[in-house]
Amino acid sequence: MLFTAFAAALLPLASAQLHLQAKKAGLKYFGAATDSPGQRERAGLEAAYPRYDAILRDTNEFGQTTPTNGQKWLFTEPEQGVFNFTEGDIVASIAEENGQLLRCHALVWHSQLAPWVEETTWTPEALRGVIVEHVTRVMEHYKGQCYAWDVVNEALEEDGTYRESIFYQVLGDEYIKLAFKTAAEVEPDVKLYYNDYNLESPGPKADGVLRIVRMLQDEGIKVDGVGMQAHFRAHDAPTLDEQLAVMKSYAALGVEVAVTELDVRIQLPVNETSLAWQAEAYKNTAIACMRVRECVGITLWDFYDPFSWVPYVFEGEGAPLLWFEDFSKHPAYFSVIEAFANMTSPPKCSGKRRSHKLY
Ligand SMILES: *[C@@H]1O[C@H](CO)[C@@H](O)[C@H](O)[C@H]1NC(C)=O
Ligand SMILES: *[C@@H]1O[C@H](CO)[C@@H](O)[C@H](O)[C@H]1NC(C)=O
Ligand SMILES: *[C@@H]1O[C@H](CO)[C@@H](O)[C@H](O)[C@H]1NC(C)=O
Repeated sequence: MLFTAFAAALLPLASAQLHLQAKKAGLKYFGAATDSPGQRERAGLEAAYPRYDAILRDTNEFGQTTPTNGQKWLFTEPEQGVFNFTEGDIVASIAEENGQLLRCHALVWHSQLAPWVEETTWTPEALRGVIVEHVTRVMEHYKGQCYAWDVVNEALEEDGTYRESIFYQVLGDEYIKLAFKTAAEVEPDVKLYYNDYNLESPGPKADGVLRIVRMLQDEGIKVDGVGMQAHFRAHDAPTLDEQLAVMKSYAALGVEVAVTELDVRIQLPVNETSLAWQAEAYKNTAIACMRVRECVGITLWDFYDPFSWVPYVFEGEGAPLLWFEDFSKHPAYFSVIEAFANMTSPPKCSGKRRSHKLY
């Protein structure tokens, strides 16, 4: 009898899936970014593609996707005035075929920028023209397909001052205003986001984000959201309280927030302890997003460890996502499901999101 009750309690969790549970907990979506096959090739795992694709396209698991690379400037405007949407279209069409929301990423960013932008000596007037043309042509191509656009990505240094990108050097903070203003003119209905990393706990960088949002609002320029990339490390990820505090501080300005690139990397090899830290980190992000009404959703930066960017950038670290190479799930997968399920279990609330009035 005890056993039966135990099994019955576990059953709903065993069959639960991320997007399905997230929706029940009041989020708009739970998603995963993905890449065109070109980027996956370096993992050398072609035999895994069919299984990978089946999970990606399972809308109970993922209700949203983002092209990790294909819409970046390097791919979309490799030469001035020469546009190429091949890479970005691969992911956009996956979303369309499956009825998944598409978060579009990213219009103005200093990294993965086409070399010609940095190699040219610009007058302010000429660089303004370049930004307007890039934002306009890329957004027009994807018009009607995106739930949101990351309009400006990573404009801040860790101390909250502006990053000395080519855009900032020539135009100062005007480039941010110009990018958002142009984006709003091209597609007034899409959500326009400022997106960055290390802004998932209060501090100087988070203050910089608040300053950018206020600056845009003060000038009457449309800004709809703050994207929290959330590239964490298992042993020192932001706490639940930190994430709640910072999300609320953005939301207090009247914008929505989203967790846009979540992964939690581990010092390899993984062990039980580090996987438990990772499970805790993922759980805290899920809980924070559920508790803050303005947090619309969570996007993993891919979902399958071998296709993550982490091992290529952080030596000795990896396993940051929710599916291991053999397609078994991380403990973190179940902690996210459990966190969502806790929020939706009948005694605490009536199947709707409850705690959003906590603050
Ligand atoms: C556009 O991009 C794709 C994918 O990167 C590439 O294969 C193709 O050659 C490009 N097209 C042009 C006209 O450069
Ligand atoms: C597990 O890995 C972490 C690093 O992620 C390390 O600090 C810890 O000592 C390891 N524990 C064991 C029992 O090996
Ligand atoms: C879910 O709720 C149970 C009972 O209150 C608690 O023990 C558990 O830690 C919670 N799990 C999560 C992931 O919040």
